[in-house]
Amino acid sequence: MRIGIVGGTGKEARGLALRWARAGHSVAIGSRDAERARERAQELSATGHGALEGGDNLWAVTGADVVVLTVPYGAHGETLRAITDAVLGKVIIDLTVPLRPPKVSTVQLPPGQAAALEAQAILGAGTPVVAALHHVSGVHLADPDHTIACDVLIATDDARAREVATSLIRDLGLRPLDAGPLQNAIALESLTPILIHLNKRYKSPGAGVVFTGIPDADST
Ligand SMILES: NC(=O)c1ccc[n+]([C@@H]2O[C@H](COP(=O)([O-])OP(=O)(O)OC[C@H]3O[C@@H](n4cnc5c(N)ncnc54)[C@H](OP(=O)(O)O)[C@@H]3O)[C@@H](O)[C@H]2O)c1
Repeated sequence: MRIGIVGGTGKEARGLALRWARAGHSVAIGSRDAERARERAQELSATGHGALEGGDNLWAVTGADVVVLTVPYGAHGETLRAITDAVLGKVIIDLTVPLRPPKVSTVQLPPGQAAALEAQAILGAGTPVVAALHHVSGVHLADPDHTIACDVLIATDDARAREVATSLIRDLGLRPLDAGPLQNAIALESLTPILIHLNKRYKSPGAGVVFTGIPDADST
């Protein structure tokens, strides 16, 4: 599968790109600055985990089967509007947490209640949005050999998009869990400020969430 990462030069994208490349996917790193993305792709390719390419955000999404959005919330709407036509019909996995600095340890709902709901409203019904991966720290992802103690909740209204996201999350070495409709992105996104609070309070490099009592999740 070809995966285009918008904001692919960032902290969270680094480990996602490496892990997906190692799983055999073709990864296109996107950026506002094509040269910066090419440099990051070269750097990650040199680790020997797979061949990655870089270019501008529009280039990265144009050839992709799946688009992953990893930009700060302040850039979320503007970034989506710039790629709306190019991503029509593709699965969009949105990791965006609507953090509003400096109060990043406090839940602050955005105007549309969740970044992923805002993304779906911008992109329209023909482009299915999946909310996922908000609780997986970029610090843990960055080492592709590190086993991460974190489940991944997936919220979407689209069955095909859920299937694609579930498979890609397994390829990261993580356990995907169906968390219901996209509306539930409000809860998913709201948990991240609490994880940030835990990181500060207990000096953790990246607190995560693990759900118990779901014995069959790995086989579904
Ligand atoms: N870091 C984590 O551990 C983590 C965990 C879960 C979820 N998230 C969420 O994932 C998203 C990305 O987080 P991150 O830590 O990777 O962020 P980041 O490193 O600060 O930014 C990611 C990329 O977004 C692009 N960007 C920055 N400002 C922009 C702007 N004004 N307009 C357009 N693009 C801009 C930059 O790429 P270019 O400058 O190359 O265009 C940057 O490399 C956030 O919404 C965050 O809440 C992060």
